[in-house]
Amino acid sequence: MNNKETVIVLDFGGQYNQLIARRVRECNVYCEILPYTVDIQKIKDIAPKGIIFTGGPNSVYDETSPHYTPEIFKLGIPILGICYGCQLMAYSLGGVVTPASDNSSSEYGKTETKYNTDDVLFKDLPESGISWMSHRDYISEVPEGFSVTATTSVCPTAAMSYPSKKLYGVQFHPEVNHTENGKNMLKSFLYDVCECKGDWKMESFIDTTVAQLREQIGDKGVVLGLSGGVDSSVAAALLSKAVGKQLTCVFVDQGLMRKDEGDFVEETFTKMFDMNFVRINCQDEFLSKLQGVIDPEKKREIIGTEFYKVFWSKIRESYGSGFFAQGTIYPDRIESGKGDAAKIKTHHNQVGIPEDIKFESVIEPLKDLFKDEVREVGEKLGIPHQLVWRQPFPGPGLGVRVIGEVTAEKVHILQDADAILRDEMDKCGYAEQMSQFFAVLPGVKTVGVMGDARTYDELVAIRAVTTDDFMTADWAKIPYEILGKVSNRIINEVEHVNRVVYDITSKPPGTVEWE
Ligand code: XMP
Repeated sequence: MNNKETVIVLDFGGQYNQLIARRVRECNVYCEILPYTVDIQKIKDIAPKGIIFTGGPNSVYDETSPHYTPEIFKLGIPILGICYGCQLMAYSLGGVVTPASDNSSSEYGKTETKYNTDDVLFKDLPESGISWMSHRDYISEVPEGFSVTATTSVCPTAAMSYPSKKLYGVQFHPEVNHTENGKNMLKSFLYDVCECKGDWKMESFIDTTVAQLREQIGDKGVVLGLSGGVDSSVAAALLSKAVGKQLTCVFVDQGLMRKDEGDFVEETFTKMFDMNFVRINCQDEFLSKLQGVIDPEKKREIIGTEFYKVFWSKIRESYGSGFFAQGTIYPDRIESGKGDAAKIKTHHNQVGIPEDIKFESVIEPLKDLFKDEVREVGEKLGIPHQLVWRQPFPGPGLGVRVIGEVTAEKVHILQDADAILRDEMDKCGYAEQMSQFFAVLPGVKTVGVMGDARTYDELVAIRAVTTDDFMTADWAKIPYEILGKVSNRIINEVEHVNRVVYDITSKPPGTVEWE
């Protein structure tokens, strides 16, 4: 694909595969995840400096379990097998993997492990430490030529190696933070075994990408849909650096963003970056379409349809030529090693272009980056911290946080309450510890008393979660004093709110959003 050194993460369907790739990149080595169904010719064409076999959910003896042609071991490319990948290496090369007949050979979680520090993976490390295990089968006999390089009290082969063939395997997960020195082990594999130099740096990514964008775009125009989210903002900044005013960013403000967010996005991109910035204010149109609608899925559909209608009609009118840019990032398009590997995930970041609009081509300048890399690029390009570290925000915006019918008044109440919550969380330093937090307007009225008078007003709910992946989430244990302050301020400062509650539901059984 290009001349930067590359490591391939061959995905056998384990749960930590993206984490392995991120760890490799944190060591300044570019890597790509490929499904185990990839043809070996493609691997030869890439000519990687090394290959990492990931874990997988299966047993190597399971007929349906993923395998790979043993030819890969003859390419002379260094290979590191992790967990299932280690067992597959042992099995493919004539070792013995013993299926777990009972639980006595299984290991899950933090496990005391002894390392042979003469082995390159464990050089300069303590002779024992905690590793993160998650396996039932184990390697009872290593293949000919291999030595055992780590053990635990129940696992005879916690690691193995065949240095002259550059083949290494670890039964544990070095990519997981619970494995002490795991990153050092990966680093040793990358630098000492694969002889990588570490040329994957965000500064050079910016320079190379800017040069490529200039060459590709030439003197033509490029249009980007800017949502104010992290990915489209960073794509906008990168394109602005490359082609300045040839870039037009179209920002559709449907009036369902957080308080003052539309103005902040406009100010940032018009004052700090060289580009044409087109803001379409269409709150009234959106609200009229949402009138009387209470079903959450119907609201999502209306907001989504309306958004693209407004967006594409603007493009048709003024910018329907040249290039179309998108903020697609790497996780949006990774092929999975789990079963239907050929199918690429479609994602809201990859937009379908109407047939009557003919662009030269689609440009995705961030398509090889993980989210943390996108953020690093954003910081280096000078995008304000607040935008670079913006929390996830649903496409339909506050439309799914005002429960039931969405009206201008309700959106206004919710924006004010949410702004107070954010202000207090910022002030106490809790904001950065949360994965996501926001206010919800459930559309419930309750009785209260203010001064001497009875009130009958809106209830506001606070939602805050911590999570790694948003598939599961814990409700955040925010100290009572902070919650108390937020509640007081919302009730005192936001008209028509007389009660505040805190949502203590994890996911599952709840979802992060209320709708
Ligand atoms: P849930 O509510 O499904 O949310 O637990 C998980 C994450 O997804 C975000 N979310 C959305 N994002 N369009 C989006 O772009 C949506 O319709 C949508 N619904 C939920 C949510 O904010 C959380 O980060």
